[in-house]
Amino acid sequence: MTMEKIRPAIIGILIFALMICGCGSAKVTDKDDEKEAAPAAAVAAQRIDDGRTVVGISMPDRLLERWNRDGIFLKNEFKKADCEVVLSYANNLIDTQIADIREMIAKGADLLVVTAVDGAALSPVLEEASSMGIKIIAYDRLIMETDAVDYYVSFDNYKVGVLQGSYVISKLGLKTSDKPKTIEFVTGDPVDNNARFFYRGAMDTLKPYIESGKLIVPSSQSGFYETSTAQWSTDIAQQRLQIILNSYYPNGAQLDAVLCANDSTALGAARALAADYTGRNNVVVTGQDGDVANIYNILNGSQSMTVYKQLKQESVVTVALGKDIISGNSPSESLIEQSGWDFECSFNTTDYNNGKKVVPSYLLRPIAITADNIQKELFDTGLYVRNSSGLIYAAK
Ligand code: GAL
Repeated sequence: MTMEKIRPAIIGILIFALMICGCGSAKVTDKDDEKEAAPAAAVAAQRIDDGRTVVGISMPDRLLERWNRDGIFLKNEFKKADCEVVLSYANNLIDTQIADIREMIAKGADLLVVTAVDGAALSPVLEEASSMGIKIIAYDRLIMETDAVDYYVSFDNYKVGVLQGSYVISKLGLKTSDKPKTIEFVTGDPVDNNARFFYRGAMDTLKPYIESGKLIVPSSQSGFYETSTAQWSTDIAQQRLQIILNSYYPNGAQLDAVLCANDSTALGAARALAADYTGRNNVVVTGQDGDVANIYNILNGSQSMTVYKQLKQESVVTVALGKDIISGNSPSESLIEQSGWDFECSFNTTDYNNGKKVVPSYLLRPIAITADNIQKELFDTGLYVRNSSGLIYAAK
């Protein structure tokens, strides 16, 4: 079942030696070390099959709600597939993630499933892993600037932005009304490749209205970097919007919409509006992920919509793909055709260029959730439930 791999103590020592010389990761990128890396390749060539499949799952952070759920889904699904799982969370710190991945290599990982804290910071450690024959799946966020990554599994990230932009157009009636409306943007973490796709999807959708003057950005901040939110932080999003409200919306000046890239930033926007907005209208606020706090906000009207992504689907695809590639296969459309999945998934070999190669990708379909369809889409389906005291939680 699994690719050749080795477990004897000498291997542990050898990898430990590799870790020691790799600690100062800056050192790893140094040319000389490539010579040192050779032993790893030699080690890989000697790998024998001991019938165990070890999967390393490296998640970015526990403070962003969804990754807790992704970690649990992935762990349970891989366990169901008789894999041993090493699951780590990197506190949104690059060095911690690199150390986590090194540990997974040392524990004999056959497969690494990684959601990068910073998409461009993992090349050295992943190239080391790949040279040892370890397979690598970029989970949800594309890993950049390396050809060590084998596959990418995510949702259609461009579509997420299109859904947010389309919602703003319909909610503000931009297609029919001539009265200009105002909007501000709160986009994502600039080191997260997904943030660019969300941004492009939204901007491509809204551009005709911005260009025609039907949609105005009073702060004139509409570029990716100037509207970005480091670490997807709720506090940073709140602070930035409060400054915008106090600078460009004095004395009841009207703001019609805030396009937020995800729910953690939307939470910050809702708090800023509650604290500093003096207009009389209900401001349209978008989001993504279906975080529980934001589900409440959609029900109480302080957030207008979120883009929901059924995370279980992403883990099911990742496990099927993972098992296939560590068995030496190079799946394509075939994985979907043979899967029997009851959800939509597409195979893409054009859109996700990580700077070194176009990474073959499996993409899932996100859906827009508003106060109108939230009961039907999230509660009637049992994806979210209310417990005996009426508290909401994500059940599936
Ligand atoms: C993105 C992810 C989103 C959102 C965001 C913040 O990469 O696709 O679903 O969670 O990170 O964690």
